[in-house]
Amino acid sequence: MAQFLDSVPFSGIIRIRDMMYSVDKPFRLDQGDVSFDAPETVKEALRKAIADNRTHYVQTTGIPPLLDLLVEKMRTKNGIPIGSADEVMVTNGGIHAQYIACLALLEPGDEVLMPDPAWPPTVSNILAAQAVAVPYPLHEERGWRPDIAEIARLITPRTKAIVINTPCNPTGGVLTREDLEALATLVTEQNLWVFSDEAYEDFLFDGREHLSIASWPGLYDRTIPLYTLSKTYAVTGLRLGYLAIKDPVIRERAKKVVFCTTSNVSSLGQYGAVGALQGPQDAIEGFRREIAARRDIFYEKLPKASNGLLTGVRPSGAFYAFVRIDPSWTSPLPNAPESQSWAMTEFLIKKARIGSVPGVDFGARGEGFLRFCFARDRVEIEGALESMERAFVS
Ligand SMILES: Cc1ncc(COP(=O)(O)O)c(C=O)c1O
Repeated sequence: MAQFLDSVPFSGIIRIRDMMYSVDKPFRLDQGDVSFDAPETVKEALRKAIADNRTHYVQTTGIPPLLDLLVEKMRTKNGIPIGSADEVMVTNGGIHAQYIACLALLEPGDEVLMPDPAWPPTVSNILAAQAVAVPYPLHEERGWRPDIAEIARLITPRTKAIVINTPCNPTGGVLTREDLEALATLVTEQNLWVFSDEAYEDFLFDGREHLSIASWPGLYDRTIPLYTLSKTYAVTGLRLGYLAIKDPVIRERAKKVVFCTTSNVSSLGQYGAVGALQGPQDAIEGFRREIAARRDIFYEKLPKASNGLLTGVRPSGAFYAFVRIDPSWTSPLPNAPESQSWAMTEFLIKKARIGSVPGVDFGARGEGFLRFCFARDRVEIEGALESMERAFVS
């Protein structure tokens, strides 16, 4: 395993983060972190947990009051027929949920279909389980949705599972009911598992609604739905995610991974999560509306700020702008990287103090694109766009 890890890629997001530390007054549109403060319900629950000395070991898969709330949430909000709290596991963020799911389900050599472009840890987690990642294209002209017939053609006797991510990071694409219906039929016919990454379930715009494939009749039997509190409640640093597994054998394996990697997720964070889920949920809608407004500001100002070099259609979900770089653009900087998306990322860091992520970091099909996060506050977004305009005219 030690040497094998040399072949597991590190995300370029880390390299950019390091580059951004050397920038004075940076515009951090590179990180997928929301600018909001956590709701008071979370903060109060955290304070109470400290006052009550909740600082000891807790149950491996999560504290019972939190598991009960998560069961209720997945049943009512997501329509997933969770049998009992035994099926749910609290994880150290959504990234850990993905790792656990891959280790519990995949055998070395299993093929896993995954979107291209995709959130970089998706491929890393598949590879960490010594499985083989098989990218399926997301098409810009289809609102960054896949063509299900094209996915079907990639299935081989070694295919074990497919990853879906709706709403999608980095593209903001949202799978339609018809897409999910067709995928549900395909995975059932082909006897495949589904990793359903629903990290952005609360960020949909223009009247779109979030649908979990695990709510389709019979689909929860073969789907591992995974979620995070990071984005929904603006608590990326608390590291709180969760997943559900119906199959008792896979679930037992997953529990061992939770145990070996964390013993249990931080007790304080879990009490904070109880506060998040128990209290009023109005903060979520407030966050969503504000993010929608920021999306509109970003896309209204982008054409002028980028001098027409960066273009794209407003996404229906998540909080990222995945925009195309004019193919004729080349960097005026010396020693610019060969990859156009890396060249543009470096140009914007050096000339405009703006962080973004090169599209190629999300997969081969992302080359020629850039990802900006518009969940940053309005002052930062507007400042970034003004700075971009100055960089492109000078
Ligand atoms: C698609 C996707 N899934 C899962 C996660 C997990 O987030 P976290 O580990 O912060 O809970 C993220 C975070 O950016 C994401 O973009």
